[in-house]
Amino acid sequence: MALRITSLQEYHRLYEQSLRDPDAFWAEVASDFHWQQPWTKVSEGGFARADFRWFSGARLNISENCLDRHLKSFGSRTALIWEPNDPNEINRTFTYRQLYEEVCRCGSMLRQMGIGKGDTVCIYLPMIPELVISVLACARIGAVHSVVFGGFSSQSLADRIRDSQSKLLITADGYFRGNKPVYLKQMADEALEQCTSVKHVLVVNRSNFPIAIHAGRDSYWDQHMAKSSPVCEAESMDAEDPLFILYTSGSTGKPKGLLHTTAGYMVYTGFTFLNVFQYRENEVFWCTADVGWITGHSYVVYGPLLNAATVLIFEGVPQYPTWSRWWEIIDKYQVNILYTAPTAIRSFEAHGDHHLQQASLRTLRVLGSVGEPINEEAWHWYYEKIGKGNCPIVDTWWQTETGGIALSALAGVTPHKPAHVGWPLPGIVPVVMDENGNAVTDTQTEGSLCLARSWPGQARSIYGDHERFIQTYFSRFPGFYFTGDGCRRDAQGYYRITGRIDDVIKVSGHRLGTAELENAINQHPDVVESAVVTLPHPITGESIVAFVVSPDEVTDRNKLEKEVMDLVARTIGPIARPRQVFAVSGLPKTRSGKIMRRILRRLIQGERQDLGDSSTLLNPEIVDEIAKLLEHQPVRTD
Ligand code: WT7
Repeated sequence: MALRITSLQEYHRLYEQSLRDPDAFWAEVASDFHWQQPWTKVSEGGFARADFRWFSGARLNISENCLDRHLKSFGSRTALIWEPNDPNEINRTFTYRQLYEEVCRCGSMLRQMGIGKGDTVCIYLPMIPELVISVLACARIGAVHSVVFGGFSSQSLADRIRDSQSKLLITADGYFRGNKPVYLKQMADEALEQCTSVKHVLVVNRSNFPIAIHAGRDSYWDQHMAKSSPVCEAESMDAEDPLFILYTSGSTGKPKGLLHTTAGYMVYTGFTFLNVFQYRENEVFWCTADVGWITGHSYVVYGPLLNAATVLIFEGVPQYPTWSRWWEIIDKYQVNILYTAPTAIRSFEAHGDHHLQQASLRTLRVLGSVGEPINEEAWHWYYEKIGKGNCPIVDTWWQTETGGIALSALAGVTPHKPAHVGWPLPGIVPVVMDENGNAVTDTQTEGSLCLARSWPGQARSIYGDHERFIQTYFSRFPGFYFTGDGCRRDAQGYYRITGRIDDVIKVSGHRLGTAELENAINQHPDVVESAVVTLPHPITGESIVAFVVSPDEVTDRNKLEKEVMDLVARTIGPIARPRQVFAVSGLPKTRSGKIMRRILRRLIQGERQDLGDSSTLLNPEIVDEIAKLLEHQPVRTD
């Protein structure tokens, strides 16, 4: 029986037990899964060298745990429901048996193409069933999946393929986001011009778009699947064999490939899905995240399927054909649990409650939020208008690095509090740290959120660069995992996340690095230098403002600004497009040449006086110039 926490008292008891004897606690959680061979040690290693390991010696396959294990009792239960972008197109559903068969066929197909244990497969697909099928098929044959969000540009895709040395790329001809076509295969072709590792490209025919076929390299998914064997034995994996690489932004320009391994990730996502959402048999769970993000990996694919849940995936966007689409989907499929991001909630709120008029939403039981801090107003709107005042909200804090939810209420079991992520999950030991590495004990002071102990779902490394992994996460506060977030803890022990304290930004819940954005901007021939800062935004949380320095007099400001915006969208992806660009003749710098972003941030927020310690400022005349510019060209806050 899966370990389910059903009362407040039990939460306290199990949390305490998870601290006192973590190995016993996690061994109990793990006992619910199917192991080909048991572990010899539950946990070992530590933060100093970042050599922590979980369930050493065990052998297993996560796809067997997601699929085979459920066939006997739940083979005819719906595993996956797919709702297409176009509401008039026919939907698709898969029972556990059907999903199992598709995954086996796909696994056989990949093996046929020479892919085996330890090979990396890059997956660049829209939100269609083939995305879930390919992820699970990789896991089944021991290949490492590297999913790249379908909204990323060809350049971002190329960087990720090169870094991960992917041998095979799975993509689609293209798809529609709302009424906008996205030509995925064309972007994949562009990316592959720069990549030598990819030997084969499998193309899912999603939209009948005409595509270029590179003979010997490209072939269609359907043609292979039709002749692939439905029998595909699951590879026997070591507990610490890599399961996937997932790229995310950090402080430097180069996105890092976080590496997750098999057993710990499985135990952690399975456990957190069941307990945070308090999932009940036969409920329909809808997580609106794309599988291209960690939320999709852990709570569209693995967490739900490990629990034999019914998962809904949606290909489209909230506003297509109207802002009522999500509510229609919830009523159509009788969704019980909705898990989404604050940006989406704020957009719905901004577009007006009349879009909710036709919706019943009576099947909803639990609401979830993830990806960025949720403000109180949005929290209350979500609670009242979507939850009708009787669905608990789980505001779940976690990261690509944590693998699964780390701080959150357990729906209906532990209390929720607006704008607070709540208490730690069992096994998670948060510490609010001051700058000197001392734990903050009062409720007023903000500090850095650190975690004092390893947990099974923790990322094990940055692919190909373990030193960078140690440097980034374990050196700022020796003995602790540094999350990069600021937080406070109130008198009841609830945590409130105040946002990133490093050079990482969150726009619409998407994670971007300022250095990555500046690198993209600096490619413009008329830009010698740039600085990116953010402004609070009522819907997207933060919006990107870029300052660019041009060597020559800028004659056409509008043209340069537009070009810079397009360049970023093209280089990284449309999600990274700056909201506003200012051409300036220089940037405020310290005497040692460091850009003073703090001053830029204050200037765009309308501050003119208190600009901080100007004794270190090398060029006060630049600050005056920018202040004047901002008077003529006001900062857009909408
Ligand atoms: C960063 C991680 C975790 C899945 C999606 C994002 C921010 C995440 C919350 C929350 C406030 C949150 C943090 C974190 N974040 N959840 N509930 N409240 N902030 O994964 O892209 O790796 O981003 O998202 O800043 O560090 P990610």
